Amino acid sequence: MKKFIIGTIATVLLLTISIGIQQGLLFAKPFPYDDEQKGLDTQIIIHLSHVVAENTPKGQAANKFAELVEKNTNGKVKVHIYPNASMYNDENEFQALQNGKVEMIIPTFSKMTSFVPNWQVLDLPYLFNTDDEVHEVLTGSIGEQLLNELKPFHIKGLGFWHNGFKHLTSVDHPIHTFEDLKGLRIRTMPSKTLEKQFEAVEATPIPISFSEVFTDLESHAIDAQENTASNIYSKGFYKVQKHMTLTKHGILGYAVLINENFWNSLPSKIQKQIMAAMKETTDWQFEQAVLMNETDLQKLEQQDNFEIYSMNNEERQRFKEKLTPVYDLYRASVQNNQILSEIEKIVSP
Ligand code: SIN
Repeated sequence: MKKFIIGTIATVLLLTISIGIQQGLLFAKPFPYDDEQKGLDTQIIIHLSHVVAENTPKGQAANKFAELVEKNTNGKVKVHIYPNASMYNDENEFQALQNGKVEMIIPTFSKMTSFVPNWQVLDLPYLFNTDDEVHEVLTGSIGEQLLNELKPFHIKGLGFWHNGFKHLTSVDHPIHTFEDLKGLRIRTMPSKTLEKQFEAVEATPIPISFSEVFTDLESHAIDAQENTASNIYSKGFYKVQKHMTLTKHGILGYAVLINENFWNSLPSKIQKQIMAAMKETTDWQFEQAVLMNETDLQKLEQQDNFEIYSMNNEERQRFKEKLTPVYDLYRASVQNNQILSEIEKIVSP
């Protein structure tokens, strides 16, 4: 009997110790203490939702930003990233941001044009010639003016990021001249200027969410789409399209947005640390975006059953001229033509 009681006590003791170790109650390492970490119990979490894959200019920049925010704030602020529209998609992310359901989103500026019509300027075809011109416009005083237009929505714009120049992909036939676009159902981002761009060549623009493009191309609900090499590669559009034409006819870039109430609730020291992370990420990401598009274009060139055609100068010039009326429509539809004049002073004609 005595042996039985001792055995039972020993077993209970062993079990208690082993559960304690598993739960981290015994021998748990204390957090390394420093002044900045006094408030670990009040850690700030930023939920950041975006719609593309992680191996893209935006996905990589979001990861870099998260890393730098955590580093600059000594772990006080953490950014949790939800890529690939796993939290919100193109259709509901802006509303979620306004309602404070998510603290940050990074939509393309094209998708913001129904709220901020003056941002349509960035969608004008053949406005930019080089990535450097895009950098100068988006990170300088013009970019700042554009971000200020978010004020009525109680959203703060932290800055703009770049992806790259857009090209066309198609399934039935290659696009050598603008005439080849006639009658095609082409997916665009929701932007009046982008829609007018395709109407100008007698195609039918179909605005749909990025997360649905692959399926709609696969089912032939749409024939073609415009995008950067990095998005075409990372989303596998080359698997459901047969042709790509290097047109470089427009740019695709992003606005990095944060809920204003949330922003205003942050101590000014943390705001400064986040802005420093943003600046460092932006400088880094403009270079990375160019490299990533180059690499992804090379990978696309290696795909079987996927032909890449480069428009020659004459075809490109004809396409550009055909799209000129889009500028007139733009000028007639927005309040602020001054932004276009300012951009035209920076870009070469
Ligand atoms: C993105 O890069 O965020 C998506 C672009 C698109 O909708 O085509």
